[in-house]
Amino acid sequence: MTQQILITGAAGIIGVSLRDSLRQPDRHLRLLDIKPQIELGTGEAAQLIEASCTDPAAMFDACQGVDVVLHLGGLSTGGFNWEQYVDVNINGTYRVLDAARRAGVPRVVYASSHHAVGFHPSDTGVTVPDYLFPRPDSLYGVSKAAGESLCSLFHDRHGLDVVCLRIGSYRTRPTDQRALFNWLSPGDCTRLFEAAIATPAPGFRVVWGVSANARAIMSLDEAHAIGYVPIDNAEDYAEQINADTHSLHAQGGHFIGGPFTDVTFE
Ligand SMILES: NC(=O)c1ccc[n+]([C@@H]2O[C@H](COP(=O)([O-])OP(=O)(O)OC[C@H]3O[C@@H](n4cnc5c(N)ncnc54)[C@H](O)[C@@H]3O)[C@@H](O)[C@H]2O)c1
Repeated sequence: MTQQILITGAAGIIGVSLRDSLRQPDRHLRLLDIKPQIELGTGEAAQLIEASCTDPAAMFDACQGVDVVLHLGGLSTGGFNWEQYVDVNINGTYRVLDAARRAGVPRVVYASSHHAVGFHPSDTGVTVPDYLFPRPDSLYGVSKAAGESLCSLFHDRHGLDVVCLRIGSYRTRPTDQRALFNWLSPGDCTRLFEAAIATPAPGFRVVWGVSANARAIMSLDEAHAIGYVPIDNAEDYAEQINADTHSLHAQGGHFIGGPFTDVTFE
């Protein structure tokens, strides 16, 4: 049977990449974003939906017959105000989970962020565990931690399977010192989402989303438990990065969230 996957935020950086890399013969993608998307290619098994994830009716319609929702849509960095994070990220995630539950979707994969735990130290020499208690580094991080809480509630109360991916820094290549430990390459990002889609009965999981970086500080235990096997290594770019960028400590290097922990960061 054809697998139906709904991607919110499908016009974003990660969404566009997944639109391409998640293509499979027995799979159909519903690509939802608030902004216009690239037209469908010839033979592309997909549907474009222009809607907001904050719209309950649109989300309910989009979730009909769906096997997995990949919830990427929303404000993906700093620079917005509290009302915007509450509306788009917190309320939007609630609407997605609630629509999924009401439409009978069994699984949601939530694009969380390392910024949900960004004020935890990064330089203790101890592996940063899975399920680290939230310690957000910004209002953006708070919105991501709130999203994880909603995922937890919808699992415990309604039995929805939810995999929260605490994504590091998704880039085509690592571009700064911090990325040497938290880079997520496009190829590994696809492998991570494929694992979260395929793993049997995950329940509620919090999984680090990083590549096989030699300087990794995050646990990959839960990632391995869902079947994610990263391949790429930021170390391959280390020489270039060291030449290009400032020192790690100049970038908020004592904390997982890096520059987001700076008091001037909004
Ligand atoms: N890129 C990273 O390094 C990174 C790291 C950690 C977490 N994440 C998370 O992964 C997700 C995707 O990140 P990205 O880099 O592709 O971000 P992006 O900003 O490129 O994409 C986000 C998409 O969401 C859409 N969107 C915004 N408001 C919406 C709404 N109300 N309804 C539907 N769609 C809406 C935007 O139009 C955009 O296309 C985000 O949730 C982000 O927080 C990304």
